[in-house]
Amino acid sequence: MSDLIQEMITRRSVRKYKPDMIPKETIDKIIEAGLYAPSGMGRQPVIILAVTNKEVRDRLSKLNAGIMGADGTDPFYGAPVVLVVLADKKVPTYLYDGSLVMANLMLAAHDQGIGSCWIHRAKEEFEQKEGKELLKSLGIEGEYEGIGHCILGYADEPAKEAAPRKEKRVYYVE
Ligand SMILES: Cc1cc2nc3c(=O)[nH]c(=O)nc-3n(C[C@H](O)[C@H](O)[C@H](O)COP(=O)(O)O)c2cc1C
Repeated sequence: MSDLIQEMITRRSVRKYKPDMIPKETIDKIIEAGLYAPSGMGRQPVIILAVTNKEVRDRLSKLNAGIMGADGTDPFYGAPVVLVVLADKKVPTYLYDGSLVMANLMLAAHDQGIGSCWIHRAKEEFEQKEGKELLKSLGIEGEYEGIGHCILGYADEPAKEAAPRKEKRVYYVE
């Protein structure tokens, strides 16, 4: 089995993190893998906010918890890095393109020995005033929809086993 397939099979969502920051070179490597995801007609409509600032990370966590109806919890499970993936809604394939970036980020993180998890509700987060203001403060204009957060950090829990794969999901037409 190639290393890549092994990485794909062994990646698991991590839901407990050490507070230690990841080196910037490692974060940048993971981001680069995300940026090389395919996109419909090669339009590259996806952007990434690489949040390592604790204050901003905590604000996003609070917003996310509010949307989930779980105030006071940290939906980012203590992860120190949050890569927010957003995509330009004007591009017809934006949702697919954004999801592929998310997948590349999570796989690249695993390859680098970094734990990750897709955290949802980015759409609702960036529909709110606070999310919109964050984009504006970064000079981001246009119709960007939040696709997901790829949280990153060093796992503070043992590696998990994958759930068994459901049966009857492949139909061979030979
Ligand atoms: C679209 C999507 C949204 C997800 N949202 C969350 C989330 O908000 N919180 C969370 O803990 N996990 C979230 N996950 C992670 C899934 O729960 C996880 O991928 C699934 O349970 C399979 O586990 P594995 O990633 O370890 O294989 C999300 C995954 C996807 C693909």
